[in-house]
Amino acid sequence: MARNWDEHYQTCAPPSYPAFVVRTYGSLLPEGVVLDLAGGAGRNAFFLAALGHRVLLLEQSEVALAMVRDEVARRGLPVHPIRADLEDPGLALPPGPFAGVVMSYFVHRPLLRHFARLLVPGGLVLLEGFDRHEAIRRGRGESPRYWEPWELLHPPEGLSLYAFGEGRWGFAHRTFAVWRKLGP
Ligand SMILES: C[S@@+](CC[C@H](N)C(=O)[O-])C[C@H]1O[C@@H](n2cnc3c(N)ncnc32)[C@H](O)[C@@H]1O
Repeated sequence: MARNWDEHYQTCAPPSYPAFVVRTYGSLLPEGVVLDLAGGAGRNAFFLAALGHRVLLLEQSEVALAMVRDEVARRGLPVHPIRADLEDPGLALPPGPFAGVVMSYFVHRPLLRHFARLLVPGGLVLLEGFDRHEAIRRGRGESPRYWEPWELLHPPEGLSLYAFGEGRWGFAHRTFAVWRKLGP
């Protein structure tokens, strides 16, 4: 059953610190706009906006989007929350081109094939999430919403692997990758 994210955001405070891959590799993004897919309450988007990027944050939860709007009003950073269902096969992603695409703790594999065309040459994809070991640990062994071991080692056509890691950190089994668009 799909998770009720509105209820989640009404009852749990989202983490305020950015994901490891964003914290560690965000400063390597070229200048320009960043697309944050399923950006939640904006922890990654606000970190990147503070580094000087304009960020488009796509998200389905109205509660999360309201939290982002409040934070924009409070901090005045260039984060633009947009309501979108990223699992809708008819969805048209913003055309870009983007300096970076972030997909953190959200898995929807059909999106991956669009990343190369969305990026400027030298642009980066920053990916992080839980992996199959974590799904098993949580009793959700078959769920497609987890990355397979080593899966992120293999970027889609048009992107090359820049960094990858997998293992247990914090309280969970996780994986991350940085993919780079080929070109000058
Ligand atoms: C674990 S949270 C991660 C949020 C954020 N990326 C982060 O790292 O803090 C997963 C997010 O995916 C969003 N989400 C789930 N399904 C979605 C969909 N079909 N379209 C857009 N967002 C979705 C949820 O509302 C939630 O904010």
